Amino acid sequence: MKPVEKSLRILVLNGPNLSALGQREPEIYGGESLAEINRELESLAGELGVELEFVQTESEGEMIEQVHQAGREFDGLVINPGALSHTSLGLLDALLSVKIPKVEVHLSNPLSREPMRRRMLSARGVEAVVAGAGKEGYRWALS
Ligand code: DQA
Repeated sequence: MKPVEKSLRILVLNGPNLSALGQREPEIYGGESLAEINRELESLAGELGVELEFVQTESEGEMIEQVHQAGREFDGLVINPGALSHTSLGLLDALLSVKIPKVEVHLSNPLSREPMRRRMLSARGVEAVVAGAGKEGYRWALS
């Protein structure tokens, strides 16, 4: 009998203020809401044969817990930490402790913005970063 192939499970984790996409500085982050972006990713997931779960939180502690949970229950992590990317050593430590493939996404390119956004702590804890490609960045991270 042919073994049943289990599809890969990937957590798409968005941090603080990404709940406001669509209304928040659309000239920087685009006019689409997070729900719209997630719907598009869901249909890409169907094509790729992967299973996605979506979480957004405003809280640093919840982000850290979700990263640990991803390490236990998922095969990969796509993360946009929002501003926590620039501030949270705790989030970096969580990412470093988790041994699944991780890709960090930023809609904008923080390196071309204000100086305080150029320090990207969390980027040291992931395999790849996609920044400045808008919502396409999430698609690239999955492909
Ligand atoms: C962001 C970039 C961060 O600097 C900012 O704090 C965000 C969004 C992005 O997706 O471009 O909240 O992560």
